[in-house]
Amino acid sequence: MKILLQPPRDEAGEWRAALLTALPDAAIAVWPDAPEQPDYALVWKPPAELFLRVRPAKAIFNLGAGVDVLLALPTLPEGVPVIRLEDAGMAVQMAEYVALAVLRVYREADAYAAQQREGRWQPRQRIAKSGFGVGILGFGVLGRAVASALRPFGFPLRAWSLRRKVSPGVESFAGRAELRSFLAASRVLICLLPSTAETRGLVDGGVFEALPRGAHLVNVARGDIVVDEDLVAALDRGQLAGATLDVFRTEPLPTGHPFWHHPRITLTPHTSAVTLVDDSVAQVADKIRRLERGEPVTGLVDRSRAY
Ligand SMILES: NC(=O)c1ccc[n+]([C@@H]2O[C@H](COP(=O)([O-])OP(=O)(O)OC[C@H]3O[C@@H](n4cnc5c(N)ncnc54)[C@H](OP(=O)(O)O)[C@@H]3O)[C@@H](O)[C@H]2O)c1
Repeated sequence: MKILLQPPRDEAGEWRAALLTALPDAAIAVWPDAPEQPDYALVWKPPAELFLRVRPAKAIFNLGAGVDVLLALPTLPEGVPVIRLEDAGMAVQMAEYVALAVLRVYREADAYAAQQREGRWQPRQRIAKSGFGVGILGFGVLGRAVASALRPFGFPLRAWSLRRKVSPGVESFAGRAELRSFLAASRVLICLLPSTAETRGLVDGGVFEALPRGAHLVNVARGDIVVDEDLVAALDRGQLAGATLDVFRTEPLPTGHPFWHHPRITLTPHTSAVTLVDDSVAQVADKIRRLERGEPVTGLVDRSRAY
């Protein structure tokens, strides 16, 4: 079996070694070396040239959960199945990041930090939990993991997805028709949608207006789902009390971008959930073995929906 590997960052050695351990019989080429027709290609944000030189015979594995960059590649061959990472160690990281953000807001960590700086001892009245709805935009692998992590705290949980979901303790909303009622009680709005033609620019001024006044946005999905100017305007007029951002339209976030020094924005450099080599290789290798046995695999990307 021939595999072409074009891994994230500068980690080819680590990925290759892990793949060889998991699939000892495979012949593994690391891009820019490339067999003309590998059986499988394992890629992360590949250059357009890659698919001009190779056409994987059986499948393309995306070494991340989001396939927006891969699907936008004009050279991506038609008719070859694209399979994405599902969780692969990212769900627990996402749950940690989002739980931290939600609890910081709920327990008013910023207000207490300010009081400490002022040398002021002043217990604040605890926010009623029943009125502190947490809304999750996108209720897939990662959205569900976040809901599971938040469930023990007792916040009213709500989730918005394309198709209605059944999940204990989570109120489900589906489709554009139900977006406004979903937003109306979301004191914290967590974005875990894929970036698609349907979702790019979705989180705009209209969405912020539909949230309760003083709500908080957590974007851990993709930067282009949020309209930057509308976010700054909503923060400046107090409609939003704060935002926690891990993803941006341009990464690294350009010097001088208003997000850098906005007093109500907390940001991190796209680190909420990183691809882990061992977990990812274990998942991909398991799927390759299944495909070789003619068995179905999960994580197949629906190109018409673009996620
Ligand atoms: N910041 C990071 O480090 C990081 C790490 C990993 C992933 N991500 C991002 O997180 C995203 C989500 O990952 P995942 O694994 O949870 O994806 P997933 O399992 O495919 O879940 C996507 C969810 O979004 C919903 N959705 C898609 N299009 C929609 C639309 N037009 N309207 C309403 N709902 C829509 C889907 O609805 P249905 O359930 O009805 O299909 C599903 O619930 C990825 O696409 C990626 O961009 C970021």
